[in-house]
Amino acid sequence: MEYRRLRRNKAIRSYIRETVLTLEDFIYPLFVTEGENKKEEIPSMPGQYRFSMDTLLKEVQELVQLNIQGVLLFGVADKKDAFGTGAYCEENMIARAIKALKKEFPKLYIVADVCLCEYTDHGHCGVLCGTEVDNEKTLPLLAKASVSYAKAGADLIAPSDMMDGRVDYIRKALNEKGYEHIPIMAYSAKYCSAFYGPFREAANSAPQFGDRKSYQMDPANRKEALKETQKDIAEGADIVMVKPAMPYLDILWQVKQMVNVPVCVYQVSGEYAMIKAAEKMGWIDGKKAAMESLIGLKRAGADMIISYFAKDFAKGLLKEE
Ligand code: PBG
Repeated sequence: MEYRRLRRNKAIRSYIRETVLTLEDFIYPLFVTEGENKKEEIPSMPGQYRFSMDTLLKEVQELVQLNIQGVLLFGVADKKDAFGTGAYCEENMIARAIKALKKEFPKLYIVADVCLCEYTDHGHCGVLCGTEVDNEKTLPLLAKASVSYAKAGADLIAPSDMMDGRVDYIRKALNEKGYEHIPIMAYSAKYCSAFYGPFREAANSAPQFGDRKSYQMDPANRKEALKETQKDIAEGADIVMVKPAMPYLDILWQVKQMVNVPVCVYQVSGEYAMIKAAEKMGWIDGKKAAMESLIGLKRAGADMIISYFAKDFAKGLLKEE
């Protein structure tokens, strides 16, 4: 017996534990929809809902009471068009939600995801030229959305579209409008992943034709992730992100070793759905599996974790007795 000496009971195990998750590590994603008095459960994401503005305020009240510090907002738009106008028009739904939340909960840290796919009728993350996503035409629209969220009171702007040069473009637009103090968290190593499936059901944002392979990263590539991340930092990203989480722990680890800015990881909808589904089947202990995956993310270097499990964590449901 050698290593087992320090595993003999709970106390010694916790004394020597190297990685500890805290509630301050988490950001909780929320889906906001039009209408009133709506709280619709997302079928492939049990325990996650689409909230209308009124029920959103109630939900966030509970989150604040649970000491969750930050939320990440996504819009589920009714009206969509080719240009994703809903993402940046005057009084777009996310800007309205941010305003309402900031008024009620001034200390809540609000992260605004910036992308067009929840607002385009074709479901792509930018505007099209023929059947291709047009990088240069998309940049001003992303910048417009970013400025409108900053104006509404967002604390952090998080572009998830994967257009080239967007961090630089958004940084300049924010500075020009007087939002130099608002940081950018870039979805830098964002892979083209099957694990976004449940999110696309939730936001009704699946591409209507083709796929996202021409802008999101090939899961087979590692060096490219490092280059993307360095480029985003050079363009002014304050925080970088790796997404999804569990299949990309090697990327997370390497990015963390390489950069001097905080690193965020996004445990995406499909990762959540997998654990929930297996738990429902009685095939795994979902709470323990969730905790183990989250610990893995922190151990691999995450400074911040976006996870649909944040609320369960805050309630103490994931902790071992
Ligand atoms: C928008 C966006 C997506 C996710 C976050 N922002 C969907 C996508 O890129 O298709 C996915 C998050 C999740 O699966 O939980 N581009």
